[in-house]
Amino acid sequence: MVTTPPPRSSRTQYETDDHQADVEALVAEPRQDSEIDLEFLYTRDIEFRQETIYFAVVDRFYDGDVDNSEGPNPELFDPERQDWGKYWGGDLQGIIDKLDYLKNMGVTALWLTPLFEQVEALFVDNAAIHGYWTRDFKRLNPRYIGRDEDPSLNNTQEQKNTTFDRLIEALHQRKMKLILDVVCNHSNPDFSGKKGELYDDGVKIADFNDDKDNWYHHYGEITDWEDEWQIQNRELAGLATFNENNSDYRDYIKGAIKQWLDRGVDALRVDTIKHMPIWFWQEFNADIQGHRPDVFIFGEWIYSHPSDDRSVEFANHSGMTLLDFGLCVALRAALAQGAEDGFQLIQAIFDLDHRYFGANELVTFIDNHDMPRFQSLNPDPDMLKVAIALIMTSRGIPCIYYGTEQYLHDDTEGGNDPYNRPMMSHWDTETELYRLIRLLSGLRRLNPAISMGGHWQKLLAPDVYCYARRYRDSICFVALNRGETTTIEAVETELPDGEHTCVLTRQKFEVSEGRIDSLELAARSAIVISHVGERIKGQTIVRVQLNGVQTQPGETIVVTGNCPELGHWDVSKAYPLEYINTNTWFGEIPFEESAGKMITYKYAMWREGQSPLRENLVARRWVIANEGTVKWRDTWASGPES
Ligand code: NOJ
Repeated sequence: MVTTPPPRSSRTQYETDDHQADVEALVAEPRQDSEIDLEFLYTRDIEFRQETIYFAVVDRFYDGDVDNSEGPNPELFDPERQDWGKYWGGDLQGIIDKLDYLKNMGVTALWLTPLFEQVEALFVDNAAIHGYWTRDFKRLNPRYIGRDEDPSLNNTQEQKNTTFDRLIEALHQRKMKLILDVVCNHSNPDFSGKKGELYDDGVKIADFNDDKDNWYHHYGEITDWEDEWQIQNRELAGLATFNENNSDYRDYIKGAIKQWLDRGVDALRVDTIKHMPIWFWQEFNADIQGHRPDVFIFGEWIYSHPSDDRSVEFANHSGMTLLDFGLCVALRAALAQGAEDGFQLIQAIFDLDHRYFGANELVTFIDNHDMPRFQSLNPDPDMLKVAIALIMTSRGIPCIYYGTEQYLHDDTEGGNDPYNRPMMSHWDTETELYRLIRLLSGLRRLNPAISMGGHWQKLLAPDVYCYARRYRDSICFVALNRGETTTIEAVETELPDGEHTCVLTRQKFEVSEGRIDSLELAARSAIVISHVGERIKGQTIVRVQLNGVQTQPGETIVVTGNCPELGHWDVSKAYPLEYINTNTWFGEIPFEESAGKMITYKYAMWREGQSPLRENLVARRWVIANEGTVKWRDTWASGPES
C-alpha cells in the first residue's frame, strides 16, 4: 500500500522557514494511509497514434448558420464567394452539420483553423479568414458562433453552451476529438496604423505601438533565415511578435488555452514553433500537461526535416511532436512531381526515423493550407490514392486536408495560397478516396502494427514500394505502384502462410513461406493486406518506449523489475520489448497483480551467449495505475558493462 502525500494545505504548513514548526507539524499530523489519488502519481497515456486527423479551414467548410456570416464588419464577407481574401461563411454550426459525414469517413480527430476573435480589417486585401491574426485569445470569432453568442454583445467567454460547446459535445458523442489550433508567437499585423492590439476577454491589455509593459519584441522583420536569434526574436511577415520573457504574456496565453481545454478541447496544434525558444515550449507543455495530462500536442516547425538538427532536437526535447514536413516534401516530390528517384526519396526519410524519439507520433500529411494541394501538382486521382494509402499505412498519425476526399482543388496560380482554400462543395460518400480513408482509418484502429509497429522495407524501386509494418504478431503488408502495370516476381511479406484479402480491392493473394509470388500491381495502385495478431490485455497496460539504446542484431531489450509481471529481477523472465528502429524499443506490458502498487524496474539488454547488460542505475520507480493505459518514456541509462 502506498502512502498518500499530505494534502496541499498541510504541505504548505510544512513549508515554513521554521524548521522546528515543520517537525512539530509532522509529529502532530502524521501522514495518513488513506485513499490514494493515483492521478498525481502516474502519467496517463496520451495515445494519438490510432487517430485519423482531418484538417478543415473553418470559413471554407460549410455555412451552417447564415445569420452570423456578415460578422462585425460586413465588408469582410463575400456572399458570392469570388473574393478569396474575404470570409465565405463557414462556421462551427457547419462543422456540426457535417460531423456524420466526417465520422463515416473514419475521421477520429478534427483540427480546425484557429477559432479566436480576429482583427476585423483587411491586410493586403485579406481578412483573417485563416485565423492566425488573433485579437483576443479568450474569445471566439463571432463569425463562427451564433449571433446571440457574440461575446462582445453582452457576454464574456465564460458563457457556456455556445455553438463551440455544442460542437465539442457532438464530437465527443461520436467519440471524436477536437484539436485546437493555437498561436503563441504573434498576435496581428499592422492595419491602418494599428498593430498588435491584444485583448483579454474584451479588455485591452497590450498594444504594439504603445508597448509600455514590453509584451512585444521590436526588432523588425526577419532578414536572415539562417540566424536563429532573428527567427526567434524578429517578425514573420509583419506580425507583432510576443516577448516570451514577459511572464504576464506567458500567463495570459497559457491561461487562455487552459480555458479552452477546460471546455473539452482534446489536443493542440501549435503554430510557428520555431519562432520561439525551446525553453518557452518546455514550460508551455509542462504547464498545459500539468493542467490536463492527457492532451496531445503537435507543432508546426515549417520545413522540419529529420536531417535538420534543430527541428529534431525540438521534436525530442520540447514535449510536443511535429508535423512531418520532411515526409510531406519527399512524398510530393515522389508522387505528385514525378521525381526520378520516386519512392527512394520516401524511404530515405524513413531511414532517418531513428533521429526522432517517437517517429510514429509525427503527424503526416501530403498538403495543407500553406502549399498547393497535391492535385494542383498532379491532378491524377490515382496518384492521390497512392499518396493517401501511404500516409494511412506508414508510421505517424495521418492528417487529411479538407476536401481531399472530394478531389477538391483550384489550380489558379499553381494552386498556391489562397487558391488552396476553396469552398467545400461536394459531400459524396461514394468517392473512391472517401471509401479508402474510411477503410484504412478502421484498419489503423484494428491493427496495432500500423499505429505502433516498426517499418520494414521489402522492395524498393523508384516506381514500386513494398513494406511490412510489424508489431508482435500483427502485420500489415503494403504494395504501392506509381508506374504502369507491373508484376513482381516474389516479395517477402512477413504474413502467415495462406490466403489473404486486400483491404482495399478485395483481391485474394496466396502467401507461401511468407512470400507472394508473381504479385501483379495495376498502374498507380495500392494493395494493403492485414493480419491482426493477439492483442495485449490487462487490468493496467503500460505502453513503454525506450530510446537511446544501441543494439546489434540478435540483441533484444527487456524490462526487468521487482514484480511478477517483470520477472522478479530474473532477466530471463523479464518482459521483452519490440524493436521499432535503431533508437526505439516499444512494448505494452499488462499488469494485473501489481496494478495499484509501486514497483521498481530497469531495462536490460538480452544478449545471446553473453550475460545480460543492465542499465547503469539503481532502478526506476513507478506506481502502476489501478486500471487503464499509462505510458513510460525512458532513455537508456548507459554505463560500464556489468
Ligand atoms: C503557419 C500557418 O499555417 C500559416 O497559415 C500562418 O499564416 C502562419 N503560420 C502565421 O501564423
